[in-house]
Amino acid sequence: MSIELKSVSKQYPGVDHFSVRDVNLTVATGEFIALIGGSGCGKSTTLRMINRLIEPTSGDILMDGESVKGVDPVELRRKIGYVIQSVGLMPHLTIGENIGFVAKLMKQPKQQIESRVEELLDTVGLEPALYRDRFPRQLSGGQQQRAGVARSLMLDPPVILMDEPFGAIDALLRKQLQLEVRELQKRLQKTVVIVTHDISEAFLLGDRVAVMDRGELLQVGTPHELINAPAHKVVADFLDDEVRLRRLDLLTVADALDLAPTTDPADDEMRLDGSLSLRKGLVKVAANSTDSTIAIEEGGRVLGRITTREFLRYVAQNTNKNTEVVNVVR
Ligand SMILES: Nc1ncnc2c1ncn2[C@@H]1O[C@H](COP(=O)(O)OP(=O)(O)OP(=O)(O)O)[C@@H](O)[C@H]1O
Ligand SMILES: [Mg+2]
Repeated sequence: MSIELKSVSKQYPGVDHFSVRDVNLTVATGEFIALIGGSGCGKSTTLRMINRLIEPTSGDILMDGESVKGVDPVELRRKIGYVIQSVGLMPHLTIGENIGFVAKLMKQPKQQIESRVEELLDTVGLEPALYRDRFPRQLSGGQQQRAGVARSLMLDPPVILMDEPFGAIDALLRKQLQLEVRELQKRLQKTVVIVTHDISEAFLLGDRVAVMDRGELLQVGTPHELINAPAHKVVADFLDDEVRLRRLDLLTVADALDLAPTTDPADDEMRLDGSLSLRKGLVKVAANSTDSTIAIEEGGRVLGRITTREFLRYVAQNTNKNTEVVNVVR
């Protein structure tokens, strides 16, 4: 199911400015979008307008081309799973009851609910026999998060919204959960919008990353696009630390050719696959004993040649905090 935000704005009552201003964003069916930006920039507001927990002041939101304005909010939320940072499990209900809660409200058959709950516990890596009948307080934070994800999947919604779902989890477990959610999303082909202020999380999860600042959507693009061509100084600054390291993984050896003039062939030149990441390329270049020309090739065809010195300069330019962001727009 696709989501389309069209000129969506939100001004809260009694607030003299817009908290979200003229946001346009299209999320394709099965796409994973990470919405990122500083505190108070309007991420949660944007997310909550999608499932109508908040009504936009102006603009429209379409799901598969149909405006959500005409859809009953309760009906809408059955199509949209929602995961929040605080998990929000009900403390007096068991994990199984929490996950099956809405289905029970909808009067689905008991047997059907129970087998679905079991399936979902398996899906998120919580052994049903061990966890189904426990109460939330008897689970670790990370396990509660998994239960929260399972609950959001109960009605098999085509869309899932996640608002900083891993915020309260320690770094090691967070990484594991991130990878699992990513794998789950691809396998189940869900359309997911995740809100985060963690740039590594955004880059790890998002097919595309949407950068917000003070209510405005500044840029939407793949990690490679954002790093290669930040459309805005705020985006470049925001990405800065992560970017310097990430560039090594996201830029390719072939990207280095864009900046350096092609040099002549040499007898002792080394051949380097242009599709390698800059990081892998760097390792190969560093291991090469000769200090000569590099022929960058793809599928056996030489794309161009640069000197080792130029290659290293390109790496340095892209990892040094004090140099300007090198803009490579293709
Ligand atoms: N109910 C409300 N009434 C008035 N202002 C609000 C309300 N909810 C949010 N705001 C304001 O709208 C702006 C955007 O808030 P929002 O919660 O969307 O930010 P956020 O990007 O999710 O921030 P964070 O990363 O801290 O969660 C903030 O300035 C906030 O103070
Ligand atoms: Mg928020």
